[in-house]
Amino acid sequence: MTTHPHHLFLTTSTREPGIVGNTEWLARQAAAALPAGTAQTWLSLARMELPRFVDQRHTTGSYPAPEGDMKTLLDATLAADHIVFVAPVYWFSIPAPLKTYLDHWSAWMRIPGVPFKEQMARKSLQLVTTSGDRAKAQPMVDSVRLCAQFLDMHWGGALWGKGGPPGAVQADAEACQAAATFLIA
Ligand SMILES: Cc1cc2nc3c(=O)[nH]c(=O)nc-3n(C[C@H](O)[C@H](O)[C@H](O)COP(=O)(O)O)c2cc1C
Repeated sequence: MTTHPHHLFLTTSTREPGIVGNTEWLARQAAAALPAGTAQTWLSLARMELPRFVDQRHTTGSYPAPEGDMKTLLDATLAADHIVFVAPVYWFSIPAPLKTYLDHWSAWMRIPGVPFKEQMARKSLQLVTTSGDRAKAQPMVDSVRLCAQFLDMHWGGALWGKGGPPGAVQADAEACQAAATFLIA
């Protein structure tokens, strides 16, 4: 049995299959610095079937346990000690697959018998992101930080790198250096 905490990496770039985007590349640099034996789960939201979220808060008021990829995501979310969003900046915000996943948190808070809120309050949330420049990432960083705060999660901060075409972030020496300690600080 491992004594190390379990990291869940949710990648959300919508690059075509086979292309490793800047954000994932940077996150993998950070993950490489984790102690050997650290449990890591990597899931690519853009490759999963994410059903549209329906707001039933003021009708049924509750949700059934999810199935399919949403069940995989709920189980992985509950099993993780540290959740890392690996998300490029899209329109000053998070990519749509991550937004859909996040919207489902609202459902997961309302599944009878699932102590989602209590469990989330014991986890940390971090963000790895890339964009054209750092200032353009700020609204998205603030948004993710506020989501963590809403669920009383520990906010572990954001790692930002200068992106662009695949591979561009490798020229951002500051980001590469910061990646070496981002997950273990
Ligand atoms: C739909 C879309 C919207 C984007 N919006 C922004 C933006 O608002 N600000 C910015 O600086 N870069 C923006 N970009 C550029 C990406 O953030 C940048 O290329 C990033 O490094 C891509 O990450 P990836 O290589 O991991 O896919 C956008 C790219 C796409 C495809």
